[in-house]
Amino acid sequence: MAAGIIGIGSYVPEKVLTNADLEKIVDTSDDWIVSRTGIKERRICPEDKAASDLGTSAAIRAIEDAGISADEIEMIICATITPDMVFPSTACIIQDKLGIVDIPCFDLSAACSGFIYGLEIARNLVETGRYKNILVVAAECMSRVTDYTDRTTCVLLGDGAAAAIISKIEGDFGILDTYLGAAGKYSNLLYVPAGGSKMPASHQTVEKRLHFMKMEGSTLFRIAVNAMSDSVKKILERNKISPEDIALFIPHQANIRIIQGVAKLAGIPMEKVFLNIEKYGNMSAASVGVALDEAVKSGKIKKGDLICMVSFGAGLTWAANVIRWSKNG
Ligand code: UT7
Repeated sequence: MAAGIIGIGSYVPEKVLTNADLEKIVDTSDDWIVSRTGIKERRICPEDKAASDLGTSAAIRAIEDAGISADEIEMIICATITPDMVFPSTACIIQDKLGIVDIPCFDLSAACSGFIYGLEIARNLVETGRYKNILVVAAECMSRVTDYTDRTTCVLLGDGAAAAIISKIEGDFGILDTYLGAAGKYSNLLYVPAGGSKMPASHQTVEKRLHFMKMEGSTLFRIAVNAMSDSVKKILERNKISPEDIALFIPHQANIRIIQGVAKLAGIPMEKVFLNIEKYGNMSAASVGVALDEAVKSGKIKKGDLICMVSFGAGLTWAANVIRWSKNG
């Protein structure tokens, strides 16, 4: 039995943070940000909302797109590194907001690779025949872990959510293959030091700004280009697919120069690469999901098209999949 996406949706908050806004907060310029990252603006979650609110809005759209009712969902997986709280899981909070009862719900922590990790878990559970419809949500409020005094990270990140319903698919459609990887030895390159069991919140951790993301940007940049291009090459090779067969590549939107480097090494023409980085920046797990939704809704993906998603993030983790799109419109 094959499994695939029968419904997709996304949601980004209305508030826009532009490069001009950031110029007033840190020593940066629109020219530097655009030329070094490709980002022009990003979305920011309102103070009274959290990841679960963004995720629920995306989920409602995915459920509607799938043409099912919420009570037909049999499991919720939420990929997030910015959960509403340390516990309970954001998936449980989304379950409640959707009015669904008595189904398994859990969070998945794979940073920017979380959506593709989640799709793969859901696909395998559907393929066993045990579950019919699984809701995979990627919901991130990266602004909440962003240090707006650190110009090397604050220009990169934004908030948003995406959701997909994974179900049985007839014919040669659906998620054909997924390649997942991780290298924990690089966990010190991208992390939030405090707030977990290693360094619980204290006056000192707040004073030292240890609840914000720390990143070694240039080292990550090099690893990201290699890991993402390798992931694309591996998944295409083992499925005997050439880059020409792919209608659209959907890469993680962390930096336009990373995307260009990946495309070059993997032999992908940039015309086949979906980009929305200039509008949203890096929304961690939500990035590839929002990009997939926008690509479908704007008619860039049609029924029967082969698409390849690829991502990379903290962990470090990386992930790629190949999907034969099964839906019209
Ligand atoms: O989601 C996956 C995880 N994240 C990533 O994959 C991010 C990967 N890394 C990157 O995207 C890039 O490394 C950055 C965009 C973070 C930085 O770009 P870079 O070309 O690697 O710049 P750099 O870190 O080598 O810094 C070059 C210069 C430095 O100044 P000096 O030391 O040469 O005087 C920085 O201080 O640019 C400076 N700089 C800035 N200048 C203006 C760093 N950030 C800024 C800024 N505005 N926002």
